[in-house]
Amino acid sequence: MDHSSSFDTPDPSYAELIAARPSLDMHAHDGLLMDGVPLAAIADAVGTPSWVYSAATITRRARRLREALAPIGAHIHYAVKANDHLAVLGLLAAEGCGADVVSAGELARARRAGIDPADIVFSGVGKTNGELREALGCGVGQINVESAEELDMLSAVASSMGATARIALRVNPDVDAGTHAKITTGKAENKFGIPYRDAVNLALRASSLPGIQFRGIALHIGSQILSMTPYRAAYARAAELVGILRRQGLVIDVVDCGGGLGIPYRDEPAAAPEALAGAIKAELGGLNLKLMVEPGRWLVGPAGILLTSVVLVKFTGERRFVVLDAAMNDLIRPSLYEAWHGILPVSPVDAVAPQVLADVVGPVCESGDTFARGRSLPAFRPDARVAILDTGAYGAVMSSTYNARPLAAQVLVADGGWKLIRPRQSIEDLWRDEIVPAPQG
Ligand code: LLP
Repeated sequence: MDHSSSFDTPDPSYAELIAARPSLDMHAHDGLLMDGVPLAAIADAVGTPSWVYSAATITRRARRLREALAPIGAHIHYAVKANDHLAVLGLLAAEGCGADVVSAGELARARRAGIDPADIVFSGVGKTNGELREALGCGVGQINVESAEELDMLSAVASSMGATARIALRVNPDVDAGTHAKITTGKAENKFGIPYRDAVNLALRASSLPGIQFRGIALHIGSQILSMTPYRAAYARAAELVGILRRQGLVIDVVDCGGGLGIPYRDEPAAAPEALAGAIKAELGGLNLKLMVEPGRWLVGPAGILLTSVVLVKFTGERRFVVLDAAMNDLIRPSLYEAWHGILPVSPVDAVAPQVLADVVGPVCESGDTFARGRSLPAFRPDARVAILDTGAYGAVMSSTYNARPLAAQVLVADGGWKLIRPRQSIEDLWRDEIVPAPQG
């Protein structure tokens, strides 16, 4: 049977997956629990597929990161793109996080969640005139400028409003983050940032433009980074640039160290926030800078699961397919990045049942609608509940309604109970805003 896996090590067992995730537990009677709440009860009440987030995990991780960064005085600007639900933003805001946003929509969400505009950084490679105006109008703390063209646009917009934009130049350090090609951003061939060799000239230009206050530099080299080596290389280049620019007489008081800190999805060694703080300190410490980070995934990824049900188990020749009621339109990471996500049975009976190898797929009409290949799972019966792990980041936010599949419900587990934080979209919602022109004549 070809169940070839691209990994050298066997998949972690259920016990290993659970042990590595403090919010999860397997109870002999109630089955899989999140922070003590049976996931089966949530599935019974709201149906599947549903995203379920652990508030305690989000809060705990925000505190851990904040404490790790405290010695170097670095401030967290949560990358809203990872999970933009207002309840999630609210939890992070309560822990003192600012926000990193990349669109007018994310800016509005962050503000709606109570984050002070002064604590918001606006990033992104293609901010429109309208978005720049919006950002300046509400007084965002910093705009990360990604090109000479954008610098001119921003100068014009700010001048026309009589405003001053506090900016950092996002410099592309040409460092390979060693992550998936679709989520690496710091290589010279990527569309992001300003080429390192152009940074000095552009910074000098920025300092002379009307409506612009040049503050420093920003870097973001990619996502799901587990090694400190690329971070150290990027921060070393940032430090070098700070030195060069200061010698040119520029005032630099900000370095935005970006996001990208990875999480263990399978059996990867966890990247410690203390190690990131150490890498920042080693290269940028002692330079009298205001330091910032923009993590998304690390804060919220491990806090979420996608709760789904088995529709049926089908066999084709030698292959066993577990077909779920969740699909690539809900969670696209496996299809898009070949991402590995842990999959656990929810029922205590399934948890101890003999295991067989199966491919886990969704019902969407594409072969790419595959969550896992050759996974050891019980011989599920229809309606068995399944949890797909570590989907708190880049899960619901990347959903679509492809195949006319309504957006899944979202649930927050907190204080020993749970709350529906977004109802499942109805079928009628799918066409509610569609306009069918009346026939002419
Ligand atoms: N800052 C900037 C400028 C970014 O572009 C990103 C992510 C972040 C911060 C946050 O990165 P994080 O800490 O979450 O790694 N959809 C992909 C990930 C795309 C990340 C895009 N940029 C995935 O599901 O793996």
